[in-house]
Amino acid sequence: MRKFLLIISVLIILILPGLVTPSCDTNQGQIIPYVQVDLYLLLYADLADVGIGGTKLIPGEGVNGIVLYRESDLLFYAYDLTCTLWPEHDEAVVEDPAFFGVFECPDCGSTYLLMNGGEPNSGPARYPLVEYHTSIQGDVLHVYN
Ligand code: FES
Repeated sequence: MRKFLLIISVLIILILPGLVTPSCDTNQGQIIPYVQVDLYLLLYADLADVGIGGTKLIPGEGVNGIVLYRESDLLFYAYDLTCTLWPEHDEAVVEDPAFFGVFECPDCGSTYLLMNGGEPNSGPARYPLVEYHTSIQGDVLHVYN
């Protein structure tokens, strides 16, 4: 009987943690795939139509396209459009026509605020949109990683 209880105790110790570990139903921090970004955009040509607080989509760059957000005259932020809840879904967020600067995942409904560092605002996503570096030299905006 003692041997049986010992075996049962060992099995419980070895198996129970696997049973009670929660299933992974949200992104536990995986990052989106690395894609080299190295863009040069002219402030008074390519970005002339982007006012302060405005956005510009750059399809075909990054993983699922990039959105630029102009915070001030010479300050831009660049975010990858890939929803961070499940990067392997390869789903691009889209701008919410009702709320300026808010991007929403058509899959999970997570919303991200560009004016708040691309942080999730609602929905299940827990991580912000992936941000790329930006710098301005002369009249050229460089977006890179
Ligand atoms: S990406 Fe499938 S959940 Fe937002």
